[in-house]
Amino acid sequence: MAASEIPAKRVVLGVTAGISAYKAIEVCRRLVDAGVHVAPVLTPDAMRFVGAATFSALGSEPAQSSLFEGSSPIPHTALGQADDLVVVAPATADFLARYAAGMANDLLTATLLATRAPVVVCPAMHTEMWEHPSVRENLATLVRRVVAVVPPGEGPLAAGDVGVGRLAGPADIVAVVLGMLGSSGDLAGRRVVVSAGGTREPLDPVRHLSNRSSGKQGHALASAALRRGAEVTLVTTVSTPMPAHPRLSVVRVDTAAEMEAAMGIESEKADVIVMAAAVADFRPVKVANRKLTKDDGIPDIVLEQTPDILRALVARRRPGQVIVGFAAETDEPLRRARAKRASKGVDLMVVNDVSAPGVGFDHDTNAVTIIAQDAEHEVPLSAKEAVADAVLDEVVELLGRDQGAPRARGEDS
Ligand code: PMT
Repeated sequence: MAASEIPAKRVVLGVTAGISAYKAIEVCRRLVDAGVHVAPVLTPDAMRFVGAATFSALGSEPAQSSLFEGSSPIPHTALGQADDLVVVAPATADFLARYAAGMANDLLTATLLATRAPVVVCPAMHTEMWEHPSVRENLATLVRRVVAVVPPGEGPLAAGDVGVGRLAGPADIVAVVLGMLGSSGDLAGRRVVVSAGGTREPLDPVRHLSNRSSGKQGHALASAALRRGAEVTLVTTVSTPMPAHPRLSVVRVDTAAEMEAAMGIESEKADVIVMAAAVADFRPVKVANRKLTKDDGIPDIVLEQTPDILRALVARRRPGQVIVGFAAETDEPLRRARAKRASKGVDLMVVNDVSAPGVGFDHDTNAVTIIAQDAEHEVPLSAKEAVADAVLDEVVELLGRDQGAPRARGEDS
């Protein structure tokens, strides 16, 4: 089928003012070759490095760079609303700062504010700038908003310098974009259900028992699965939604009971289930129907166990389904997590020692050991996105290995 007959996905290719802007020409050409409709948007300073004429010739429509000079009176909303994805390559330190701050002072940043499509940024800059705390913080802000990052590589930089900060290769950038569009990716065609966040078990209409889970690890898993081409359902207690994505459904829940119901429904057709949520183990037996006050005296709160969602999912696992649990531990993490894996009957138990600095609850980073029946794989302290990819790498391997044979259920379930 000719490229023009393919129902093309639409991508805005943003180019900012870095020396590696010339590589964006290759990104543009490769995306168009893959059947993608590419709308190039250059910042005014990017045109000091590369010409709009090149992008107009290679892209699917004329390159734009101004909010005011094109034929459309509101080009940013036209671009932002019509697109399936925005990729910015190279993304300079200045661009990252303006995007993180929500500025809209050129066509590219205005388009980014006007879009609900997923966004990929590909930073490129000198090593000193890449390592500067303000760049790291701006990037962390964007990652929290579930912007995907294709990190820079190491090698020769401008002016004869060598170090980290080199724009990722065009082939790698295009692979990420196509994965996010669902055109490819090692989870393309797979259904993945992820749980995230800490459940809240009410005591009365204004109070609840909960834990410190922020949902970041679960959201990073959902985001990585999307990037790798999966259809994703995120069952989350977090009220800040992930950006809309054509292959993402979000189910908001609060309590363990609500999460159990949602996971039961959503897991029926899933190929992969990942329980990254911190589900309360106990909940109050009685929920007062009015606010408890000091006048009532100190309440006697009697707790009962919540349902073990993971164990129930394993008990009704369908053939070929891969099930992943997380274990948040503080004492003897490996021993306890190995026992938990066997007892709950999951394929993978991902253990984090949440007493270690930068690990587990509410951090942007995590360090885990992924425990399978026959192997263990340590992931050192890394961004939660990298941990998510390491977990999904193992999931992909299990999906490839499994030819539909049901696995053993929990040894004591
Ligand atoms: O959300 P973040 O701030 O990013 O933090 C991430 C995290 C620390 C919450 C995450 O990495 C993590 O460890 N999640 C699991 C926390 C947990 O509940 O661990 P657990 O050892 O108590 O439970 C083991 C497994 O059983 C988990 O997959 C849990 O989802 C599941 N479970 C637990 C209790 C229950 N009633 N039902 C369950 O399904």
